[in-house]
Amino acid sequence: MSLVQAGEPVLLISEEGKRYLIFVQDGGEWHTNRGRLPYDDLIGKAYGRVVASHMGQKFLVLRPTTSDLTRNLKRTTQIVYPKDAARLVMELDLWDGRRMIEAGTGSGGLTLSFTRAVMPNGRVYSYEARDEHQKVARHNLDRLGLLPYIDLKIRDIGEGFDEREVDAVFLDVRNAADYIPQVEQALIESGMFGALLPTTNQVSALLRALENGDFVEIRVEEILIRPWKPVPARLRPSDRMIAHTGFLVFARKLDAQYRSFWMDKRQRRRAVEFGNARKQSDRDKTF
Ligand SMILES: C[S@@+](CC[C@H](N)C(=O)[O-])C[C@H]1O[C@@H](n2cnc3c(N)ncnc32)[C@H](O)[C@@H]1O
Repeated sequence: MSLVQAGEPVLLISEEGKRYLIFVQDGGEWHTNRGRLPYDDLIGKAYGRVVASHMGQKFLVLRPTTSDLTRNLKRTTQIVYPKDAARLVMELDLWDGRRMIEAGTGSGGLTLSFTRAVMPNGRVYSYEARDEHQKVARHNLDRLGLLPYIDLKIRDIGEGFDEREVDAVFLDVRNAADYIPQVEQALIESGMFGALLPTTNQVSALLRALENGDFVEIRVEEILIRPWKPVPARLRPSDRMIAHTGFLVFARKLDAQYRSFWMDKRQRRRAVEFGNARKQSDRDKTF
C-alpha cells in the first residue's frame, strides 16, 4: 500500500472535479474556502481515499503524476506542455545515467521531466540567463527533491556550455539557431539535439543552421492530442483542444568527415527516386 509521506506533493480532487496540488508538512494544515484540512489527516494514510475538511467538503487523495506536477508548478515563463515533454524524453533518448544540457531553465517545467528520466545516476545541466526565472525554478525543483541531480547555471548560452561529451542538448530559447556552434562543442558524437520553437520562421532558421553544422537525421514534428469525451453511449471528441504549442526539431550530431556519407546516401536516394519517376512517366507515355 502506498502511504502519504511528510514533504510529499499530494493531489486533492474536490467533488466538482477541482484539482489542488499541496505539499504536506508535519503539524500544518491546508486552508481553502472549502474548509481546513489538517495534514495529519493525510500523512501516514493511504493514497486513493476520500477525506473531508472541517466543513465536510470531500476530497479524493491521489499521488500526482509528472504531468500533474508540471501543470501545477509556480511559473514566471511559458512552460513546455506535458505532451511535448513526453516526446522530448523519448526522442532525446533520456534514461538513468544520461548527462544532458537544457536552456533556458525557465520555470523548471521541463527540467522536472528530464531529471526524472535521467536520475539517480545521470545529470541535468540547466542554463538560464535571468536570475528571477532561475529562482522560481530552484524553488519548484527543490520542493520535489530533484536538486541533487541538477546543476542550475546562470549564463547567456551565447558564451557556451561548460560540459563536453553530453548525451543530449535541448534548447527552449527564441533564437535557437544562433547557438548551434555551442551545441556542437558540448555534444558527444552521435548525441541527440532537440529544440522547441513556436513559429515556422524560427524553425526555418534552425534548419538552415543544422544543415550547415555537423548534424544529420534532422526532423520537424508537431504533437497534436485530440481528447475525447469518455462517455460510452456518446463517445466523441471534446469540443476543445490545444491547437498549437510549438514545433519540435530533432537532429543527431555526426562528425564532418562522415557527414559526406550521409549526404551521398541522401543524394543517391534522391537519384533513385528521380529514376523511378522517370520510368513511371515513360510507362505513362507507352499506354
Ligand atoms: C520559454 S522559457 C523556458 C521554459 C522551460 N522550458 C519550462 O518548461 O519551464 C525560455 C527561457 O529561456 C531563457 N533564455 C532565453 N535566451 C537565453 C539565453 N541566450 N541563454 C540562457 N537562457 C536564455 C529565458 O530567460 C526564459 O527563462
